[in-house]
Amino acid sequence: MSAPQLLRATPSLLHTPSPPSQPLFPSPKTLPPAGGSSHQRQRQRQRRRAPGAVSSELQWSRKPQLAGETPRVVVITSGKGGVGKTTTTANVGLSLARLDFSVVVVDADVGLRNLDLLLGLENRVNYTAVEVLNGDCRLDQALVRDKRWPNLELLCISKPRTKLPLGFGGKALTWVVDALKAHRAPDFVIIDCPAGIDAGFITAITPANEAVLVTTPDITSLRDADRVTGLLECDGIRDIKMVVNRVRLDLIRGEDMMSVVDVQEMLGLPLLGVIPEDAEVIRSTNRGFPLVLNKPPTMAGLAFEQAAWRLVEQDTMKAVMVEEKPQKRGWFSFFGR
Ligand SMILES: Nc1ncnc2c1ncn2[C@@H]1O[C@H](COP(=O)(O)OP(=O)(O)O)[C@@H](O)[C@H]1O
Ligand SMILES: [Mg+2]
Repeated sequence: MSAPQLLRATPSLLHTPSPPSQPLFPSPKTLPPAGGSSHQRQRQRQRRRAPGAVSSELQWSRKPQLAGETPRVVVITSGKGGVGKTTTTANVGLSLARLDFSVVVVDADVGLRNLDLLLGLENRVNYTAVEVLNGDCRLDQALVRDKRWPNLELLCISKPRTKLPLGFGGKALTWVVDALKAHRAPDFVIIDCPAGIDAGFITAITPANEAVLVTTPDITSLRDADRVTGLLECDGIRDIKMVVNRVRLDLIRGEDMMSVVDVQEMLGLPLLGVIPEDAEVIRSTNRGFPLVLNKPPTMAGLAFEQAAWRLVEQDTMKAVMVEEKPQKRGWFSFFGR
């Protein structure tokens, strides 16, 4: 389907059923034994709350099963800038740490480094990977441990407002990732990729064996995502999943935004997560307090957590049309309730 056709396409609302193996909401068994109807009452209370806020009593009934060989080296990429790569890296990284996996997030966006800001760790970055490679410090000195979740560590490639040394390319980053594997043996290495498809992009994708492509439902972002998918495949990365970010159901309903079904048709990639547009993302960015830590959790925070869950299990989700009236189910239809 061509882009103009997509824009005219019948608006479809998103319905993302959580597979039975991945409950978003607690099963009655996991709830405290407070009487048979308390679960229903709790859900009714949740429905009466403002859209975007859900109960803080949400809990997961089990830990996700880690699929694939560890460490999993995942690059978060997009082509276009400003679509949410760094936001996704911070929130998925923190969610993985909260799920008890050891995670190193690597900020490979040299020109516009800001993963440290999103994680609230900017004052603690003393050394970077460039200094490790120059022999000026040890690898563990360049790793910044998160205060809240010590199994999450941040590694920045270089200092802000500096240019990457000429010799620092894909091979150098692969060396750094290999050193991480040897010294830390993390479950996940998540690389935040810079925008564009030039040297910085090539450097960031070289050590990865899987990719998460972040896109927004607009044609410029989709065109770049399509181009990047081809480049990732050329580089031998076959495991590519996508996150559709900044989705607005009101715009989809009004035919002013492509639906996730349309995006998936256009890119043909398995879907890892769908993140709604949420003002809380901006607030949390400015506070250096990733969204997934918000209490009560917001829909975008829960969507990032679900994406992290699927990443662990190498699972995907399905976007389908929702037939029923949207007013009836509001934002909850977003998660297939
Ligand atoms: N789901 C969302 N809802 C609202 N704002 C968002 C969302 N995702 C990202 N943003 C905002 O978009 C901007 C760009 O996000 P960022 O993660 O830095 O993109 P990238 O790393 O791709 O350049 C930031 O200001 C961020 O707060
Ligand atoms: Mg970024």
